[in-house]
Amino acid sequence: METLRIALLGAGTVGSGFVKLLDELRPRFRTLGLEPALSGILVRDPARPRPPWVPRGLLSNDAEQVLRGADVVVELMGGTGRAAGLVESALDQGTPVITANKALLAERWPELKPHALEGLLFYEASVMAGTPVVEPLSGSLRGNRTLELHGILNGSTNYIIGRMEDGLGFSEALEEAQKKGFVEEDPFLDIGGVDAAHKLTILARLTIDPDFEWREVRENTSGIQNLSREQIYAAEEQGKKIRLVASLYPAGGRWRAAVRPVLLPADHPLAQAALSRNALLYRGDAVGEVFISGGGAGSAVTASAVIGDLLRMLEGYPGHPPLPQAVPAPNYQPEPLEEVPV
Ligand SMILES: NC(=O)c1ccc[n+]([C@@H]2O[C@H](COP(=O)([O-])OP(=O)(O)OC[C@H]3O[C@@H](n4cnc5c(N)ncnc54)[C@H](OP(=O)(O)O)[C@@H]3O)[C@@H](O)[C@H]2O)c1
Repeated sequence: METLRIALLGAGTVGSGFVKLLDELRPRFRTLGLEPALSGILVRDPARPRPPWVPRGLLSNDAEQVLRGADVVVELMGGTGRAAGLVESALDQGTPVITANKALLAERWPELKPHALEGLLFYEASVMAGTPVVEPLSGSLRGNRTLELHGILNGSTNYIIGRMEDGLGFSEALEEAQKKGFVEEDPFLDIGGVDAAHKLTILARLTIDPDFEWREVRENTSGIQNLSREQIYAAEEQGKKIRLVASLYPAGGRWRAAVRPVLLPADHPLAQAALSRNALLYRGDAVGEVFISGGGAGSAVTASAVIGDLLRMLEGYPGHPPLPQAVPAPNYQPEPLEEVPV
């Protein structure tokens, strides 16, 4: 049995879920002739209380010590600060990286892309957590020309809107979502649409243009922070629901990206995604409409995709490749979505 040395960066919601699942799936790794072992766990504060299954002796704030001799780096720290330097230096040394960090992927792509092309970067968990979209869009759906895609990519905003439909005001709904741990440390990332924009940027690079710019998505993003209960009731009176939708679609001979609240018929598949769940509606010229829906956040839900990436890597599959070349916008007119003025 060979030892697989894993450097884990982060032991928060997803990192601690990863440690638990890794232990539970140990027999699966053994069938591949490997015994997984954490070489260390990087955290900000090793003294902070953590779930009992996180081995305290491996916690450290010394990145060099955690990363020494690692066969693979699992980055579950988040953000574009310290995580960026650690991920880039591991990749530069040829060490594969598995990450759930959509902010890093969206904003530091010029540095990461060459390594993604080499097959060293795995990131299924970065969009819709454990619900698979990165793998299908970088693999089996590549036999299509993409016509459009629309997604509910942020569970917390969906939760907040759902609770406002139940009668809560925006602040009450936000507070409840925060208590349930659905909202990022900086709530603006969720309610301002930034998190959904990060994820849409990743999907754009898998489907239409490997160099699709973060800036372009960011400039066309608006969130739900000014949404009122009255707007939600007015939508309901028309048999509609308001949802924060992230879209890629052709218009005026070019590709457009947008994240904004839209009005959807109540029976639209995206309007049906319940509370904290995520959903993606993809349309390809050959396959037609594909709808994928499932959990979009949470400890075990997200960790399952990280473990899935790790097992794929060990089975010899490369990481997720961006589209090799940009494709021109097709001559196709999508049905327009009705934007909500906010
Ligand atoms: N939560 C979800 O449902 C979810 C779903 C999909 C993707 N993601 C992504 O997964 C990643 C992790 O998310 P999370 O929810 O697990 O975050 P989290 O609970 O805030 O955990 C972050 C972990 O990273 C450590 N960390 C942060 N900054 C650090 C630094 N500068 N130096 C050393 N350690 C540092 C923290 O240490 P301390 O514990 O000492 O503070 C903590 O253990 C993020 O990229 C997030 O966007 C999360």
